[in-house]
Amino acid sequence: MSDCPLSQRPAHLGPVEEAGFVAINTIHCENHYRERFECLFCSRAKMIDSMPGFIGMSVLKDEDPKGAYLVISYWKDKECFEAWVGSPEFYEGHKRAFADLKAAKQRGEEPPMKSDFRTYDIMTR
Ligand code: HEM
Repeated sequence: MSDCPLSQRPAHLGPVEEAGFVAINTIHCENHYRERFECLFCSRAKMIDSMPGFIGMSVLKDEDPKGAYLVISYWKDKECFEAWVGSPEFYEGHKRAFADLKAAKQRGEEPPMKSDFRTYDIMTR
């Protein structure tokens, strides 16, 4: 992971301080899927980068090896986030993830990851 460009934000995206809305997706991975999960994010689709009002994202990895990953995305406002969730870019950005879930289901296995998201207004800085 040392050469992983996780924290590199494209120059055209604004400073996180400009965000008015934040969505945090918490993902619990099965142990066997962790390496694959990290690989997906190291080569992520970046479809989201072209969405209006998208300001940036970070993926946090818990120091506890059993902990969840947090996918934090920063937006100008709630409307911009909702437009992304309903867009073809959302689907494209999740194509490999959704294919992995489908394949596990077809094999009769437990899902390799479980996701739960919450959304937040920025109250103060
Ligand atoms: C079943 C639900 C979901 C699962 C299992 C999931 C898992 C993943 C995975 C594994 C990736 C990397 C995909 C790749 O590049 O191949 C990804 C991308 C991403 N996920 Fe999710 N995700 C889910 C829903 C969500 C939701 C609801 C949000 C926001 C609250 C979110 C935020 C993101 C972002 C910002 C990216 C990067 C997209 C891009 O590069 O275009 N995800 N997700």
